[in-house]
Amino acid sequence: MNDPLRVAPGGPLSGQFKVQGDKSISHRALIFNGFAQGSARIEGLLQAEDVAATARCMAALGAAIDGVQITGCAGCLREPPHVLDCGNSGTTMRLLLGLLSGQDLSATLTGDASLQGRPMARVTAPLSAMGARFSGADGGTRAPITVTGSTLTNGPYRSPVASAQVKTALMLAAMQGQGTLEFEEPVCSRDHTERLLTAMGVRFDRTHHEDGRHAITLTGPQVPTATDVIVPGDISSAAFFIVAASIVPGSDITITDVGLNPTRTGAIAVLRRMGAALQISNERVVSGEPIGDIRVQATSLAATEIGGAEIPRLIDELPVLAVAAALADGETRIRDAAELRVKESDRIAATVRLLQAMGVDAEEQPDGMIIRGTAGASLAPAEVAADGDHRIAMAAAVAGLCGRGETVVNGTTCIATSFPAFPRLIEQLRD
Ligand code: S3P
Repeated sequence: MNDPLRVAPGGPLSGQFKVQGDKSISHRALIFNGFAQGSARIEGLLQAEDVAATARCMAALGAAIDGVQITGCAGCLREPPHVLDCGNSGTTMRLLLGLLSGQDLSATLTGDASLQGRPMARVTAPLSAMGARFSGADGGTRAPITVTGSTLTNGPYRSPVASAQVKTALMLAAMQGQGTLEFEEPVCSRDHTERLLTAMGVRFDRTHHEDGRHAITLTGPQVPTATDVIVPGDISSAAFFIVAASIVPGSDITITDVGLNPTRTGAIAVLRRMGAALQISNERVVSGEPIGDIRVQATSLAATEIGGAEIPRLIDELPVLAVAAALADGETRIRDAAELRVKESDRIAATVRLLQAMGVDAEEQPDGMIIRGTAGASLAPAEVAADGDHRIAMAAAVAGLCGRGETVVNGTTCIATSFPAFPRLIEQLRD
């Protein structure tokens, strides 16, 4: 990976291509199959550092991974011979804390400096109430963190945040516990776990309440059956190109085989509201997940308001949607997105800093930001820092496509955590 990444403004983006496999589904395909009874084939697994960390952890816990084939340990993991390094991946750490809570073993999980700073109490508190024990930094709520599993007792838990990581951690624990987990989240977070566990034969009920609350009822113990997975393209990776092609005049791209799970497509809805020219075709369902092709043609964009129940459906896309807002006509407000402050970086601060460095009138709010767009006028060339955050690095590169001169993005090796092919693809599409 070249660092710094230098982005010169230039011609339109054109071409048809695929993005790499969905990160959320890749983690789940490895963790669930590694825990399951039997053997499965995973096609299109994301080849990136976050998912490689999950694969290494699952191998240390006894799953047998041989190329695209994975054989699970039938519900009984082995005590790992070393500390489990989750790298930069919050999903790896939170899902494994749930999985390990019900095992008769102790394991220590750690990660890089960013992951060591991220809150784990959102999973350790409800998992402790079920009977698991945690010790480590900040009273066992930050990594490095040691989990000692136990016989778990399932019960009710109302999550204050709409987090698929919390939901999944609790479902993984409840599959090993006695009794019934009654989980509720304020808004339905991404539901890849529900889809894949259903395909793996795990039984549970889902209720969508009229006010947006989403509930899961799962009775343990149950062991999933290993199931083949074809991983769709990652909409969160595609979003960088969808915005890039929308804002660079003359662009016309088609991204094929992208995941279109409705719990993930908030960015498409927002961009359409802003006037983007997006066409979806070839829609079908593969491995229980809706997928399709997305064609994007450049257009002028108008400002919008982003908030409320739509936030969980686009949480990872907000940095690049902020870049779209920076080129739009009018004032865009992003609200109800305080979760952005506890991602791989404080993404509210990092995004506003990036936009300001490029001459955009942007301001931080406690739970979001306000961006006054340039109505298509090009941005100031700048040297910006990625803050060790892959999505900030890629959002900066996309903004650089609309710069008046070269944009230099420092610290871009982090792009390898989710989308190693990104820098090469940007260049290829502009040839
Ligand atoms: C993810 C859930 C989201 C998302 C993250 C991946 C997952 O986090 O931001 O990139 O795979 O479950 P939260 O669960 O914290 O909302």
